[in-house]
Amino acid sequence: MTILVTGATGTVGRHVIDHLLRQGQKVRALTRNPATANLPEGVEVVAGDLTDPGTLHPAFDDVSAAHLITFGGDYQPLRHGQQIVDLAEKAEVGKITLLGGWQEGTLESAVQASGLEWTFLNPVQFMANFLTDWGEPLRTTGVVREPYGDRKSPPIHESDIGAVAATVLTQDGHAGQAYHLTGPEVLTARQMVRHLAEATGRELRFEELTPDQTRREWGTGGNRPDLSLFRAFTQTPGVSDEDLVEILLQMYGTPHEYGTILTDTVERIIGRPPRTFAQWAVEHAHHFQPHGAA
Ligand SMILES: NC(=O)c1ccc[n+]([C@@H]2O[C@H](COP(=O)([O-])OP(=O)(O)OC[C@H]3O[C@@H](n4cnc5c(N)ncnc54)[C@H](OP(=O)(O)O)[C@@H]3O)[C@@H](O)[C@H]2O)c1
Repeated sequence: MTILVTGATGTVGRHVIDHLLRQGQKVRALTRNPATANLPEGVEVVAGDLTDPGTLHPAFDDVSAAHLITFGGDYQPLRHGQQIVDLAEKAEVGKITLLGGWQEGTLESAVQASGLEWTFLNPVQFMANFLTDWGEPLRTTGVVREPYGDRKSPPIHESDIGAVAATVLTQDGHAGQAYHLTGPEVLTARQMVRHLAEATGRELRFEELTPDQTRREWGTGGNRPDLSLFRAFTQTPGVSDEDLVEILLQMYGTPHEYGTILTDTVERIIGRPPRTFAQWAVEHAHHFQPHGAA
């Protein structure tokens, strides 16, 4: 039987596919652009758009399980959740995993009200975020200039989210669960930069900005990092760059329980501890080397 993976070309979806292929499963991948999907050999690639359920019939044809993302373009929650669930029920899809987004939409409520064997996967911050957040400054200057270097989080390796999804989609005992997925340790931003320094063999530094320096440097462009993911995270349409910086300062500067909670869920499901940030840093060290370095 075939397992459908949506978000297949994304950070998590590619890992879901890799883990399913390693198990010997038959995988169908949904994308809006099959020509540029660049997915592994053996994966059946189908075109479809989750914001347009009329395009999804081929994707759900004869599928035994499905990994679903809960957003459309620009990380907006899906508005046609019921139609997607109707398609899944009609196809007699059994197990469904849902990758939790920053805001619940109609797909989450429709799945919960359905007869499908659903499992919510709610990961914390992906380690991969640091490719976009810190890749450019570390490659070019070797310095991360940000506020609140002691802010904490338990980042998770995106491959471990994929491993959890692949296990849940193929084994019993997970229906009706919402899994809070974390990495193995709570780290500060400063500690993560130190791990990247060790992995790259470079003298990388975290330089803390005061809130006022942050407003000056980020509010007007200049050295501002790419805020697009954070803009999506806030789910506030039309928010100005200046307001975005204020929200970010507030968020980074207010210690939250969420940043320090560790769960053993990944290990319980996949039978080994989640990967550390130090391991992720070694795997991705080449992304943090200066431009043109080998
Ligand atoms: N980053 C984090 O720290 C974090 C933490 C917790 C939760 N999350 C959640 O994780 C999700 C992001 O996952 P990700 O990083 O793996 O995604 P991603 O790398 O941003 O990739 C987006 C994927 O979604 C697909 N997609 C987007 N709109 C689509 C549509 N209308 N129809 C069909 N496919 C569509 C894209 O496929 P094509 O372009 O090929 O069509 C692509 O595969 C979000 O829901 C976010 O809230 C993220």
